[in-house]
Amino acid sequence: MKTFRVFVTRKIPGQGIAMLKQRGYDVEVWSGNKSPSQKDIMQKATGADALLCLLTDKIDGEVMDAIGPQLKVISNYAVGLDNIALDEAKKRNIIVGNTPDVLTEAVAGHAVALILAIARRIVEADAFTRAGKYKGWEPELFLGAELQEKTLGILGCGRIGFEVAKKMFLAFGMRILYYDKNPRAEVEKACNAKYASIEELLQQSDVVSIHVPLLPETRHLIGEQQLKMMKPTSYLINTARGPVVNEKALLTALEQKWIAGAALDVFENEPAITSGLRRISNVVLTPHIASATFEARSKMSELAAKNIIDVLLGK
Ligand code: GLV
Ligand code: GLV
Repeated sequence: MKTFRVFVTRKIPGQGIAMLKQRGYDVEVWSGNKSPSQKDIMQKATGADALLCLLTDKIDGEVMDAIGPQLKVISNYAVGLDNIALDEAKKRNIIVGNTPDVLTEAVAGHAVALILAIARRIVEADAFTRAGKYKGWEPELFLGAELQEKTLGILGCGRIGFEVAKKMFLAFGMRILYYDKNPRAEVEKACNAKYASIEELLQQSDVVSIHVPLLPETRHLIGEQQLKMMKPTSYLINTARGPVVNEKALLTALEQKWIAGAALDVFENEPAITSGLRRISNVVLTPHIASATFEARSKMSELAAKNIIDVLLGK
């Protein structure tokens, strides 16, 4: 019987790699402590039946061809699939897997953390305190916003958006507006949420949290025009994908106070960040860590391995 070859583009936490080895597959894990380049993947993965890759690996038709026609499955260690040319995979009968569900709690939790961090100015206040600037209680030191009865606009209400809505409705008493391609009765039932157009959502929300996938039609979904529709007291949260927001327009919006603040876990040209964002205080920046919990990353590992095993078993 043929031994299947699996190439993994980075060491990942959890049991995934062990699961692949237990099946008797010939598993090679890229040993570098930085992601391999496209060229590295094309060379190292040649002859692989399965590729386990990260959201930072751009897998296009050229890479698929270099790996070879035996390639049956590309398993992405992420829920987003924008780094993989899905149409090219389809043409070659390659099955593409991702890791939904297992990271919903982690990403939703991070979105909530970012909402609180920007609204209560946690990061600014921490820097102030560390710098030894705290000289005594003051009536107006770091005033922030309460969330109760404010409006949270969920832009893209899939698994993660729904979870953020639930948490903020139940724990903070926020009013929920949501936009998705279609209304969702279960969201409305669970959170007393109201369906809104993108425009209505932007105009009425105190916090806008983005949860759409990156697709051609969601690239720069939030640009100058949309930022100008938002309230000057509102916050924008992005834990989805950077290119959904026009980052230059966002910088202008923050500098000119079209909106009150933003909290971003993802960036338009990661790992680069629009210069200027790092210098202003009304933004919270985290380095794409929304799914970075021990629990999520290890379940993602198992699911990414299972996706490969299922395909190689002919399921
Ligand atoms: C994280 O960004 C993911 O898509 O899993
Ligand atoms: C705040 O510290 C208060 O006691 O009101």
